[in-house]
Amino acid sequence: MTEKRAQFATRLGVIATTVGSAVGLGNIWRFPYEAGVHGGGAFLLIDLFFIFVIGVPVICAEFIIGRHTGSNVRGAFKALAPGKAWGVMGYIGIIASLLILSFYSVVAGWTMEYIFQSLRDFSGVHSADGLHDQFDTFAQSNLRPVMWTVVFLICNYLILARGVRKGIEKMSNILMPMLFVILIIFAINSLMMPEVAKGLEFLFKPDFSKITPSVLLGGMGQAFFSLSLGLGCLITYSSYFKKDTPLVRTAFTTAGLDTLVSVLAGVIIFPAVFTFGQEPAAGPKLVFEVLPSIFINLPGGMIWSTLFFILLFLASLTSTISMSEISIAYFVEEFKMERKKATRLNIVIAIVFGTLCALSFGCMSDFTIFGFTLFNLFDYLSSNILLPVGGMITSIFVGWVLDRSVVRQELNLSAKPVSRFAFAAIVFCLRFVAPVCIGLVFIFGLGIF
Ligand code: PFF
Repeated sequence: MTEKRAQFATRLGVIATTVGSAVGLGNIWRFPYEAGVHGGGAFLLIDLFFIFVIGVPVICAEFIIGRHTGSNVRGAFKALAPGKAWGVMGYIGIIASLLILSFYSVVAGWTMEYIFQSLRDFSGVHSADGLHDQFDTFAQSNLRPVMWTVVFLICNYLILARGVRKGIEKMSNILMPMLFVILIIFAINSLMMPEVAKGLEFLFKPDFSKITPSVLLGGMGQAFFSLSLGLGCLITYSSYFKKDTPLVRTAFTTAGLDTLVSVLAGVIIFPAVFTFGQEPAAGPKLVFEVLPSIFINLPGGMIWSTLFFILLFLASLTSTISMSEISIAYFVEEFKMERKKATRLNIVIAIVFGTLCALSFGCMSDFTIFGFTLFNLFDYLSSNILLPVGGMITSIFVGWVLDRSVVRQELNLSAKPVSRFAFAAIVFCLRFVAPVCIGLVFIFGLGIF
């Protein structure tokens, strides 16, 4: 129970942990492959709209709820609206976080495999096609992907069991800046590739004919996933914020840095995709098949490759600990469970579902529900449905139900005209723009209409 009152020690710690949660596989693995499947520039444009017009206000809403109540996601809604249906948000958050943790750990496990592959110089395989086949063989091999998923989840356990300040904050402070530096180096390298123009055109030139309702749904899901939004992750983290943490600034910094990493990942991947004659719409395998081709063509390729996958692994870790914290805080505070026991419960659930997701690329690849493998189903259900539903509930709650004085007090903006404008804009987005846009995308994207 002492954890409940824990707080992040420094401003840098707040930014590093929040950005650490946001930045991860969502930016470096998921964004490029979703953009690759959904027409590049058009997808980026939709993603940007949802990040800045809907995402930033909803981040503020989660921060307001979390810091005001100092509680886990379920406890927070229970405290603010006792006995009301808003408490359902708690369940959405916990289910979504467990679904995401399960498939996310599989991909994080792939990064661990690739650390070892890099150290072994990809067993001497250096052609783009050979590296492509190497990934397929690995992903379909059942045992190794499952093993890495479990190893990854155990790493999570070891950090989470140490608690908020010692475990999470310290790690994020070091890792996040390192990741930025290495991404910038790789982006510069990609900008010198022969097919750079094609790659950048694919990423930045929107082809509006590619915008269909399902691309809108995918772009909305990507924005929520990438910002760790709509499942109470930021409610839980902001319950550890101090009273003087500036919420609006932290929301913008998180969204800005998160977007920067996704764009950098796109700048790294797409020139390489075209240079090495790969298919942009390759799906979840894209990054793992393309990146090694980039690395081994660099001087000192083995070192770059190892370093990159270590950082990607660590960036995944800062994200998975934030999603685990949602259910751990819930078990600890609502069921008075001991922190270590709650952490174990969370990890065991993820190991069971994570194993099934890992096998989705191997012996369970024919097992589908509504045409989705389990891995894809968990991803689609959480990102495209549960998170936007959670975002809608949160925005309506803060926009319409929560006492305006609480919103004002937590946002704590100055009396300057620009601050007054920011306040009005955030409230307007929460009351009207976010619920209407999310609702419309659901109606059209899911084919309800
Ligand atoms: N935002 C993370 C990423 O982009 O990799 C994923 C994520 C973390 C989603 C935490 C949800 C969450 F609660």
